[in-house]
Amino acid sequence: MTDISALQASILADVAAAADEASLETVRVGALGKKGSVSALLAGLGKMSPDERKSEGAKINLVKDAVAGAIAQRRAALKETALEARLAGERLDVTLPAREQGASLGRVHPISQVMDELAAIFADMGFSIAEGPDIETDDYNFTKLNFPPDHPAREMHDTFFFEPDAHGRRKLLRTHTSPVQVRAMLTKAPPIRVICPGRTYRCDSDQTHTPMFHQVEGLVVDRSSHLGHLKWILEEFLKAFFETKSVSLRFRPSYFPFTEPSMEVDVRCSRKGGEIRFGEGDDWLEILGCGMVHPNVLRNCGLDPAEYQGFAWGVGIDRLAMLKYGLPDLRAFFEADVRWLRHYGFRPLDFPTLAGGLSAP
Ligand code: DAH
Repeated sequence: MTDISALQASILADVAAAADEASLETVRVGALGKKGSVSALLAGLGKMSPDERKSEGAKINLVKDAVAGAIAQRRAALKETALEARLAGERLDVTLPAREQGASLGRVHPISQVMDELAAIFADMGFSIAEGPDIETDDYNFTKLNFPPDHPAREMHDTFFFEPDAHGRRKLLRTHTSPVQVRAMLTKAPPIRVICPGRTYRCDSDQTHTPMFHQVEGLVVDRSSHLGHLKWILEEFLKAFFETKSVSLRFRPSYFPFTEPSMEVDVRCSRKGGEIRFGEGDDWLEILGCGMVHPNVLRNCGLDPAEYQGFAWGVGIDRLAMLKYGLPDLRAFFEADVRWLRHYGFRPLDFPTLAGGLSAP
């Protein structure tokens, strides 16, 4: 074996033996670097006769090419092995349960929890969720809901109005979730069965009122929906929500422009030592407003009252949360105090389900 082919064999053996990119680089510098063994051979050509230079030069260049090729190949192989090792090390098992440490940092606000509970309860009864914008037209918030123009009932709501537009129309922050009823009737064909949870606004502030609060509206429209259905739905809802075996309700006549007849509903309860319990006792607590959808509202929403009838109700979500979870001051809900949220909030991965008991830990 000539010196040159021996040198080539030894360099190629070193290339093959290089275990990582750093040692491969050392082999490369030792062979092809300025002072490398192959470079030294090339430098020696200058002292040779032209004929020798021709034949030796060709051989040396072949060695150089072979070495460079082997190094490039080895580098690619080492890169691939390194990548595979990294990927194997970083593999995630997505089937593992979430680590409690991270999940325990955040808390679900009681309002969000109650909204999730409502969604679970009403989904079980075949209701879907309808939504509408917080900034509403006067038409949807009042007119289509049978509030006559300039009727004092519009003032009852302490409305936040925006500046009128060029046509003198004022948008407003919706004062209740009832405009979502209108949107549902205008866009869905009966039978309609929706709940509409969301933010509502009135110019009002004390221990039990904040300028922004939450309501959930319920609406059923079909050919033969009647008050018996409404009563059953409300009973089922309150039993599931307050997690009691039975509730008794009292329906009192009331007035809302968009329902006829209109009623307010009280739940039987006991109040002992500041604690309210449902399904027992001799006290009553007013909980929601409801009624049969007024024929004018059906008409305003393109439905024929001779063919369809329906019922609706509206409940304060904040009030439901205060009653269920014993929260005394509504204002604390919106102060964004992390200590309060840590105390009253819910773990993010405990979704409310009927099977689990809605608020079970
Ligand atoms: N929108 C009413 C309010 O904010 C609540 C209400 C009462 C809604 C009766 C209804 C209903 O759908 O039928 O005071």
